[in-house]
Amino acid sequence: MCGIVGYTGSRDAVDVLLSGLQKLEYRGYDSAGIAVMKDAGIELRRSVGKLNNLTMEILKRPLSAHTGIGHTRWATHGRPSEQNAHPHMEGGVAVVHNGIIENYLVLKDELKASGAVFKSETDTEILSHLIQRATAEGLCLADAVRSAVKRIKGTFALLALSEKEPGTIIGARLECPMIVGVGENETIISSDIPAILDVTRKAIFLHDGDIVSITGGEVEITDFEGHAVDRKETNINWSPVMAEKGGYRHFMLKEIFEQPRAVTDTFRGQVLEEKGEVFFDGFDIDLSSVKRIYIIACGTSWHAALTGKYIFEDFCSIPTEVDLASEFRYRNPLVGESTLVIAISQSGETADTLAAVKEAKRKGATVISICNVMESSLTRETDWTFMTHAGPEIGVASTKAFTTQLTALYLLALYFGQTLGTLDAGRIKELIQELIKIPKKIETILDSADYIEALARRYFHYRDFIYIGRGINFPIALEGALKLKEISYIHAEGYAAGEMKHGPIALIDEEMPVVAIAPRDATYPKMLGNMEEVHARLGSIIAVVSEGDTEASTRADDLITIPVTSVYLTPILVTVPLQVLAYHIAVQKGTDVAQPRNLAKSVTVE
Ligand code: F6R
Repeated sequence: MCGIVGYTGSRDAVDVLLSGLQKLEYRGYDSAGIAVMKDAGIELRRSVGKLNNLTMEILKRPLSAHTGIGHTRWATHGRPSEQNAHPHMEGGVAVVHNGIIENYLVLKDELKASGAVFKSETDTEILSHLIQRATAEGLCLADAVRSAVKRIKGTFALLALSEKEPGTIIGARLECPMIVGVGENETIISSDIPAILDVTRKAIFLHDGDIVSITGGEVEITDFEGHAVDRKETNINWSPVMAEKGGYRHFMLKEIFEQPRAVTDTFRGQVLEEKGEVFFDGFDIDLSSVKRIYIIACGTSWHAALTGKYIFEDFCSIPTEVDLASEFRYRNPLVGESTLVIAISQSGETADTLAAVKEAKRKGATVISICNVMESSLTRETDWTFMTHAGPEIGVASTKAFTTQLTALYLLALYFGQTLGTLDAGRIKELIQELIKIPKKIETILDSADYIEALARRYFHYRDFIYIGRGINFPIALEGALKLKEISYIHAEGYAAGEMKHGPIALIDEEMPVVAIAPRDATYPKMLGNMEEVHARLGSIIAVVSEGDTEASTRADDLITIPVTSVYLTPILVTVPLQVLAYHIAVQKGTDVAQPRNLAKSVTVE
């Protein structure tokens, strides 16, 4: 978490930094700050709360410069306060940091014993002291950073600025993302792609153990030992407009409405409709030796993983387990050479997922990934990656990334079934044709967004919600509940509908609305039974049903209809109205959809 940005060049660094931080605010927003190089030395502006407060502060005390670094914070060590906001300054050195320094208490005691005075409760301040001391001893800034990173244990993407070398910024990375945007006589460096797009689309993705020095348009990369390293430049095909709100009130809403395009882009080029085949470039894993699949992920991506179990077991007859990445790594999963691990992550930077991938590799598994960010750490750690083409997802609550992950899992399972011969050609063709129809069907659902908004107005005052589903839509009950709780702060739980009678049904009364996911599939009659049980106990029911359904309306108070599709694709269609419902309930409640409390989009710490 936390977003960092640095700029050196001929533009006004303050403008570039503020605009970059605004694109990174999804990574944390409890305080923000910048440090810029003036003739008289480094000047600092910091402010607690959202970035807007920092902008106001800069309006009150204007500032301009050509080199500077900035930070938007998601607190780990030390509460949100101006003192704890980055950059941290020590004797002419300013530092911003994303990550965690695990041995900071030991180092802090050591530094204090030799006279250092600490002004914050953060782990980062260790770095400003270590780097400042090294420069005072005569090391250049790059070597000072090198010596500091060798002393710390933990994870970091950091930027440092020194009054001794105005115009230069040094960056270092270990297990936190950092991208260098290379312009004409200017360079920008940032935690994520959207922040560089206003300056350039040419990017260098730094690797773990890289130290970068930027001065104007000059970029030099070395390793922790000082040896030069060569990193390739990549052209980013995301446009700056893709990272803007485009007239929508929130990124989340924009991203919900982008789903027809995002899903299309994700299957485009992977399916040959005429031939009825799925095609993957560069996939050379021997599937015949795979005895078990493990899918690992966190949060919303884990919900996608859960649907994957149903599809892989049905399409390819390979036993498939799903694990939360944070659990997988701390137990002893039965993973070996005949296991294929599929890691799913929108950002490709989630610390738990990356650690689980490393553990799986250590145990000899082949690991592939589904990811939305090119050149992210996950894509580099794994043997092959299915890139989803959701485009930049800025909304803290994941929407289009999720439906493109569902699309990716469907395609992967089809491909495995095709390769292993567990699906016949006719069936594959049929399933491909169903997939191709999905974007239009999502559009039909989005056409009813006003109706769902009206429902939200009726339901937003409830304090609790239950979501129920069965089979492949049980994970969608979990996802629907997560969307609601994370942006509206309403307590919501997802249950497998068959579990209701084993306990949760005790919660049902007139104060407990239930969202019942009941498209026409094999579990439909059972879902009607579950709705009956809720109805009898006076709970209100919003049912998500297939077009043309006439039976559910006798049990449900409100209906949301989705077009008919293959059961394996219903999760995509069911998800969309649940996102719209959660969004409008949050808007009605007046919560901060753009920046839900306590959350950050990319969880790069354990
Ligand atoms: C919820 C949400 C999170 C993420 C989770 C994993 O809306 O966005 O639950 O899904 O933090 O993130 P990635 O997919 O980037 O690994």
